[in-house]
Amino acid sequence: MKIEGKEHRTIWFENNIVKIIDQTKLPHQFIIKDIKTIKESINAIKTMEVRGAPLIGATAAYGLVLAIIESNDQYFIKKSAEDLINSRPTAINLKWAVDRVMNKLLGVNSDKILDVAKNEAKDICDEDIKFCENIGLNGLKIIEEIYNKKKDTVNILTHCNAGWLATINWGTATSPIYHAYKKGIPVHVWVDETRPRNQGANLTSYELNEEKIPNTIIADNTGGILMQRGDVDMCIVGTDRTLSTGDVCNKIGTYLKALAAYDNDIPFYVALPSSTIDWDIKDFKDIPIEERDSKELSHIEGLDVDGKIKKLLVYPSKSKVMNLAFDVTPAKYVTGLITEKGVCEASTDAIQKMFR
Ligand code: MRU
Repeated sequence: MKIEGKEHRTIWFENNIVKIIDQTKLPHQFIIKDIKTIKESINAIKTMEVRGAPLIGATAAYGLVLAIIESNDQYFIKKSAEDLINSRPTAINLKWAVDRVMNKLLGVNSDKILDVAKNEAKDICDEDIKFCENIGLNGLKIIEEIYNKKKDTVNILTHCNAGWLATINWGTATSPIYHAYKKGIPVHVWVDETRPRNQGANLTSYELNEEKIPNTIIADNTGGILMQRGDVDMCIVGTDRTLSTGDVCNKIGTYLKALAAYDNDIPFYVALPSSTIDWDIKDFKDIPIEERDSKELSHIEGLDVDGKIKKLLVYPSKSKVMNLAFDVTPAKYVTGLITEKGVCEASTDAIQKMFR
């Protein structure tokens, strides 16, 4: 997708260096950063220079490539794989991508191992782009249907950033929106700010602006009243881990949006590639929920009057603060899953039928 009119991907590999867009600097600065070592890859994931389930998976795949360049030693590669998987616990794409590269390396001669890893990391990225494009085409049909009935702008609410910045290109939740816009369907996006890290305001609104898609940032608690007023036609969110039961884990606050949508009879869709399905965990209470530094809540970052980036403490310094990063929306509140293969019900049967 475009930034200042120029096409970009979120990650690429050049001269044995991984290139990323440093998302901690957006929207105020657009910085392409070099990642040269496995340590830097892990750090980029932990500090959220790269974030979003599919993108951290791709970064981990390239992290293994960098590990092999550093030391083509089986123990080091295995330890790097474990460290990558542990760098952020909730998004399943991380483990999925690491396992995929590691499985590909099984039985490969050490002189071929680097090329095999590089090809697999590239395949993961290329496949993600294709899958996200297909998610867009499948989700487009839903937006089109709403538009054909309404004959007016389709208002879509989204939470966090499940846009192209969270993937390699297109995004998951945003892909149907980009496809609808390209087809000439009038769309407007309500962008949840998504405290504490403001991925909605800083990333989703930013990328929609760059593609000229009308959007409005709202505080996370505003969605409910907009739904009651009839100002939301549908919700589309992404996910970090969707169980084969259809329960959806996503950015904290998603569950409350789903409840409000359910109460107001508004369709609530989740867009995901199959790499985000967890086939093992059956009870959503077993999903590891990341708890992040409380400073993400108590401190706010932005531009000061001189245009310099500043961090400010906004809470009483003695207050206890808790920062859970994800929650789970039970399948019964999900209208459907928009996947690369089509749209299906959020249920074990429908998911099995579509993917197994
Ligand atoms: O903590 P983040 O910013 O990595 O969380 C991202 C999300 O919750 C996204 O909705 C999810 O990863 C889907 S991205 C296509």
